[in-house]
Amino acid sequence: MVKSFKRTGVILLSLLLLLSLAACGSQPEQKESASESSSAGISSTGISSTGESQDTKVGTASEVPAETAAETSESAAEPEGPEAEADILVVYFSRTGEQYGVGEIDKGNTAIVADMIIDKTGADSFEILPEEDYYPYTYDELTDVAKQEQSENARPAYAGDVPDLTQYSTVFIGAPVWWGDWPMIMYTFFENNADALAGKTLIPFSTHAGSGLSGFDKKLSSACPGSTVGEGLAIAGTDAQNNQDSVRDTVNDWLTSFGY
Ligand SMILES: Cc1cc2nc3c(=O)[nH]c(=O)nc-3n(C[C@H](O)[C@H](O)[C@H](O)COP(=O)(O)O)c2cc1C
Repeated sequence: MVKSFKRTGVILLSLLLLLSLAACGSQPEQKESASESSSAGISSTGISSTGESQDTKVGTASEVPAETAAETSESAAEPEGPEAEADILVVYFSRTGEQYGVGEIDKGNTAIVADMIIDKTGADSFEILPEEDYYPYTYDELTDVAKQEQSENARPAYAGDVPDLTQYSTVFIGAPVWWGDWPMIMYTFFENNADALAGKTLIPFSTHAGSGLSGFDKKLSSACPGSTVGEGLAIAGTDAQNNQDSVRDTVNDWLTSFGY
């Protein structure tokens, strides 16, 4: 009887020992899977291993790497579309009112071309507006004021703050041809910002009534000697106003030549 109790006791003890060994053997597997999900789901995203973020990363083994791979490829992928060109700025000056060959206009010829550049590239823009708008809205009077400014080599002030230029690598700069030259207010902009524009690519564009680019590129280069000046574009003001489909094609082809 005593012997049989002893035997039963030994058997029970052996069973308990086996069970506890089996339990110990399974623990390393749990730790391993916990640390796997930790490294795949957390360290690659930089999220702390404690708290809420860890809970949101819980998933099946196949879900976690897929998510991580998507995050990685998202950050590595090149942005597409206009957002990709956010380091471009378009600076322009343009007048409404009575203009040569187009009558009374609500949107300036140069502004129309500027908007086409913005549409295609997603560029930011800055419109040069006179601090005091003393420019007449009748063509003849405007030509007189502009002639006077040119003869005085004036530097009319513009309104507002120029955006932080450090964020742009390329700046398109456009204006109407006034008396065979940039309007004098543009020289104010060039001279005020020549240092900040150094090292950037500047691309001029004009609208005109027959004079084309009128040396905008060379004059820009002289005013901003530290910059690289790209090939400019001249658009007839009457076309900007009245033939916008064909002007858009021309503008887009020109932009394509710069890789936009
Ligand atoms: C003051 C003034 C001077 C101008 N001088 C010239 C010129 O020398 N050569 C030219 O081809 N067009 C000249 N134009 C015509 C403008 O360049 C043209 O109409 C331009 O498209 C106007 O653009 P905006 O509407 O953006 O101001 C002149 C216009 C004005 C108002």
